[in-house]
Amino acid sequence: MSITDGLDLVSSHAYASQGIPHDLWTRLRAESPVHWCTPPGFAPFWAITKHADICEISKQPEIFSSAEGIAMIPLAQEEIVRQQELAGSMRVIIEMDPPEHRSFRNVASPVFTPRAVKDMDEAIRTSAREIVDRLAGETGEGECDFANDVAAAHPLRILSTMLGVPRESEPDILRLTNQLFASDDPDLQREGEDRRQATMEMGLEFYQLFDRIIQDRRANPRDDLASLLANARIDGEPMGMMETLGYYLITFSAGHDTTKNALVGGMRALLEHPDQFERLKREPELLDSAVEEVVRWSTPVNHMKRKVLQDYELRGQKLRGGDWLVMFYASANRDEEVFDDPFAFRIDRRPNRHLAFGIGEHFCMGANLARRSQRALLQELARRLEWAELAGEPEQIHSAFVVGLKKLPMRYRIRPAA
Ligand code: HEM
Repeated sequence: MSITDGLDLVSSHAYASQGIPHDLWTRLRAESPVHWCTPPGFAPFWAITKHADICEISKQPEIFSSAEGIAMIPLAQEEIVRQQELAGSMRVIIEMDPPEHRSFRNVASPVFTPRAVKDMDEAIRTSAREIVDRLAGETGEGECDFANDVAAAHPLRILSTMLGVPRESEPDILRLTNQLFASDDPDLQREGEDRRQATMEMGLEFYQLFDRIIQDRRANPRDDLASLLANARIDGEPMGMMETLGYYLITFSAGHDTTKNALVGGMRALLEHPDQFERLKREPELLDSAVEEVVRWSTPVNHMKRKVLQDYELRGQKLRGGDWLVMFYASANRDEEVFDDPFAFRIDRRPNRHLAFGIGEHFCMGANLARRSQRALLQELARRLEWAELAGEPEQIHSAFVVGLKKLPMRYRIRPAA
């Protein structure tokens, strides 16, 4: 009998009820690292669970294509996406193949270099400080839901600043991204009986929000990402409206929930490994390696799908042109062949060749920003959090794509700002 039909690897409800399927991946890595899955309600696919195989695939975008979708969603939902006009015509870089992908990536990549991201440091540190000040309140003691009160607020402020979203629209954009990524989660999804209608309305709201910003930055360009995107040219021609909108959407949506889920996963790991948290407080020089370990440990982007364009042999398995494959980053990030004691959370782990930001052609464009954002918040917490503990059960988001906790209740005592 097959080890798995793959349903537990891609069903959002399985993630919500059973958590991340690490035991299953460990078995697959050992016994069937390129595993054929036929889950009911989903298209059949190859499950790729080894670090080396994900590297091999990601470096050959001409054979393994992103153009027909990157997330494994139920067939019924795929049909809705196909029918939706807006989603059908909105083009985003993460779903483009070379050579087109390169031209589009070049538009925004200057904003995400380490040097350019350093210019954002002031805004990033201010956001971290304000959020921890708010937690401290008057007395320094309290209870919060770390997921919503802290981890969501920080990237929201940073990305809104970069993309020109006014403060009063921040709650709207937060609600919309939650709806976009957790469309299966009964607590987060958009209300409405008809999923198709609800998704269309969501697209329209996004459009209205970003269109205002685009028009403003065309009339009054400034030195920011919002203006760069609004006035971008592709091969000498102005970037199309749907592509421009798609760029705002992908930057915001790719940057927000991922960073948030890394921060929540990191806080949980630090609460569950108090020796590591104490060490971080004593040795702030470990901040950079702590951030990498948090990202490896939480791996917020759980998987990416690719379409195989031509026959290809991988570890003795014959992949056929037209097949789907799904790369599970969280499995690669616990691969025993790459990581020493992979199930240990160690903030001084070096080397740490995790694949949480992907690799190759589509390597995360926001990786530097994500690192600096997490570093600033961890630094603020390590300096000021005197004591903290879980104040209830953490709850997993109903999602198998961008994964993490939707609730992390925490009791704490925080030192007032210096
Ligand atoms: C901890 C936080 C983050 C994680 C774990 C993460 C993860 C990833 C992964 C795995 C990919 C590769 C997708 C693929 O192979 O198809 C990716 C791509 C991307 N990420 Fe991130 N990301 C994070 C934060 C950010 C931030 C903050 C931004 C921007 C503000 C961002 C923007 C992007 C973009 C634009 C792409 C597409 C790149 C391309 O197609 O060339 N990400 N990210």
